[in-house]
Amino acid sequence: MSIVFDHMAPRITEEDSSFRTRMLGIAAGMTNVIAMGRGDPDFHTPAHITEAAKKAIDDNQHHYTGPTGLPQLREAIAADLKKEYGLDYTAAEIVVTAGVQESITLLMLGLVAPGDEVLLTSPRFTTYDTAVHMVGGVPIPVPTFEKDDFALDVAEIEKRITPKTKMFVLVSPNNPTGAVTPPEMIRRIAELAVKHDILIVSDEIYAKIIYDGNEHLSIATLPGMKERTITLNGFSKTYAMTGWRVGYLAAPADFVAKMIEPRHTLSINTCTISQFAALAAVTGPQEPIEAMIAEYAERRAYLMEALTEMGLTYGHPGGAFYIYTNISSTGMEIADFCEKLLRETGVMLFPGSMFGDETGHYIRISFLQPLPLIKDAIGRMKTFIAAHKDAAA
Ligand SMILES: Cc1ncc(COP(=O)(O)O)c(C=O)c1O
Repeated sequence: MSIVFDHMAPRITEEDSSFRTRMLGIAAGMTNVIAMGRGDPDFHTPAHITEAAKKAIDDNQHHYTGPTGLPQLREAIAADLKKEYGLDYTAAEIVVTAGVQESITLLMLGLVAPGDEVLLTSPRFTTYDTAVHMVGGVPIPVPTFEKDDFALDVAEIEKRITPKTKMFVLVSPNNPTGAVTPPEMIRRIAELAVKHDILIVSDEIYAKIIYDGNEHLSIATLPGMKERTITLNGFSKTYAMTGWRVGYLAAPADFVAKMIEPRHTLSINTCTISQFAALAAVTGPQEPIEAMIAEYAERRAYLMEALTEMGLTYGHPGGAFYIYTNISSTGMEIADFCEKLLRETGVMLFPGSMFGDETGHYIRISFLQPLPLIKDAIGRMKTFIAAHKDAAA
């Protein structure tokens, strides 16, 4: 071990998931891999957005911006939050960050003291665990279950509230389950937050990717909730802009003012060129986004039917682009399933353990490949499952 390693601070607890590294290592040596586990849209960023970035470069718009972001982008985000979700934020209440990811770190720095407990919708996007650990807090998962299509149950939240609870992180639609928390449950979560005086972090990064008439309700629109909520959203998923790194938090102006220095310390500002691209995304035509969502809907419908035909169950995903699928009917152990599926067929999927799931039953299948490739992957999975069932019989 190096001397540097020996001197590490205790706040870094998470290890790189060795299973993921192992899978990527196996895949690197193969030529026929279909990645069905990714969270990165396969579409290109729409052309009017990339053109805006090119123009920003040509116009020499490549200097620092203020730490909270370009004023015109903050204005446009506030207008979009109003138009799309009925949220009442002003530009002064928006901090533009390097993806939602940086917003998560920033808000944990600003709000969580050592020993504070943070309740997390689970299975989950485990960045939250890492960010909470980094500031000395304690992540507390709130489980959701397949029998409920992974919908949140307010009783599961309430029974985990203690005097140390600082906040509940509501992620709807959720990653990895795609579960959309219905408006009625959002209202009950809001009541709970007021009753126990806890904050709400509402991660709405998938809010525009919703199917079958499911309704997204932004919790900060409810009476009294804006003052205790931090709303998170971004450009990565909706606009196929993962690599551009633009997201934001929206929160009461006094908190935002206090976040300027820490945000400046983290990275000064979000890449200026990407901010101009984001401005074009949020103010420009939305048809390309509608077209992407229509395509996701088609892929989702195909996959749900194909999985059911294969005898696999799942929680109905109301949004996002994931199907959280139960493979227990195959009789295979989850890590063994994922590794053998990759080695024998080239289909790469990741186990629920990467999303903090301890049941050992689930894989996250994402539909971020063109339909013909998804069909190819399903064909390979069918053969694989049948072969392993025969071998076990
Ligand atoms: C629930 C959730 N929040 C936040 C993020 C981070 O997104 P980004 O930093 O690209 O905006 C992701 C990415 O997968 C996510 O699934």
